[in-house]
Amino acid sequence: MARMIDLRSDTVTKPSIEMRKAMYEAEVGDDVFQEDPTVNELQEYAADLLGKEAALYVSSGVMGNQLCLNVLTNPGDEIICERDAHIFQYESGSPAKLSGIQMMPVPGEMGVITPEQIEPCIRPASAYYMPRTKVVELENTHNRAGGTIQPIENIIRVEELVKKHNLLFHLDGARIWNASVETGISVKEYASHFDSISCCLSKGLGAPAGSIIAGTKGFIEEAFRVRKSWGGGMRQIGILAAAGLYALKNNISRLAEDHKKAKILAEVIAEIPSLEIDLNTVQTNIIIFKAKTLSIEQAIERFKSHGVLLSEGKPGFIRVITHLDVSFDEIEKTKKVFKEIFS
Ligand SMILES: Cc1ncc(COP(=O)(O)O)c(C=O)c1O
Repeated sequence: MARMIDLRSDTVTKPSIEMRKAMYEAEVGDDVFQEDPTVNELQEYAADLLGKEAALYVSSGVMGNQLCLNVLTNPGDEIICERDAHIFQYESGSPAKLSGIQMMPVPGEMGVITPEQIEPCIRPASAYYMPRTKVVELENTHNRAGGTIQPIENIIRVEELVKKHNLLFHLDGARIWNASVETGISVKEYASHFDSISCCLSKGLGAPAGSIIAGTKGFIEEAFRVRKSWGGGMRQIGILAAAGLYALKNNISRLAEDHKKAKILAEVIAEIPSLEIDLNTVQTNIIIFKAKTLSIEQAIERFKSHGVLLSEGKPGFIRVITHLDVSFDEIEKTKKVFKEIFS
């Protein structure tokens, strides 16, 4: 049977032979004792890449974001984020469950919220009967908005606002690598505006698991304590960290190819009258579009029967994500499937 073309997510990639070799050869130790040389190397390498004092290897993007939020806040605090933010929509209510904090979601434009929208949401410091605003969070690239990039000028303006109100600034940079490759702005430059950053090794970079969080030395020491208390301390985890190191050293610049693949498909979608797409949102490796003549379930089923797997994005939208395990040939095949289904 022909291989399915899996465009549901960039998390479906499988470690390459070279990555597996790096994993096989990894030196390991007990990471709960901070004695795993490969984990230590990954953390130092990532801290340097992100321009932060220290970094911590964690099991997932959700754990990364939630650890950061936990360390930055106290129970009863409030976090301002965009309404479609991953931390608000897709992290199982963890801010409330794990940290006793609540969210103030602000509807954005293509995932972007401006200082003019954020400032009125900041609670007056004297209002003891309100939650205390503590953190502003941005997501770059923004998953639900379709892989859109946060404009650096807006990040800088929000940072100024954050500082003016003595708040803290967190970046969900699960796909910060994609933003950086597309804009040419280094991940260090992006990270420099934030107190904490969480970024994934297991999405476009192709590692089988793991995320990195980064910040000051004190922040990471505290996150290390919290990670242990959440059961996130693992032992000879250098086997996985080796895949992350391999991904950081080899798989960042090639993300440009995934962006090209997304543009190729987006252009075909734009030509089909029964599909609706805003090409302005196609900035990296994610495409969101609407099918006017089919329900989402029907569309996903049709594609599946033609050997292509897609998924549902935000309500009403079908989502396509390109990645390193889908070739340009498969993108050409997918183009044909689009034309076949919707001609
Ligand atoms: C923007 C964003 N943040 C965080 C996550 C969470 O990552 P994980 O699934 O590894 O927990 C995702 C996953 O898709 C994401 O897209």
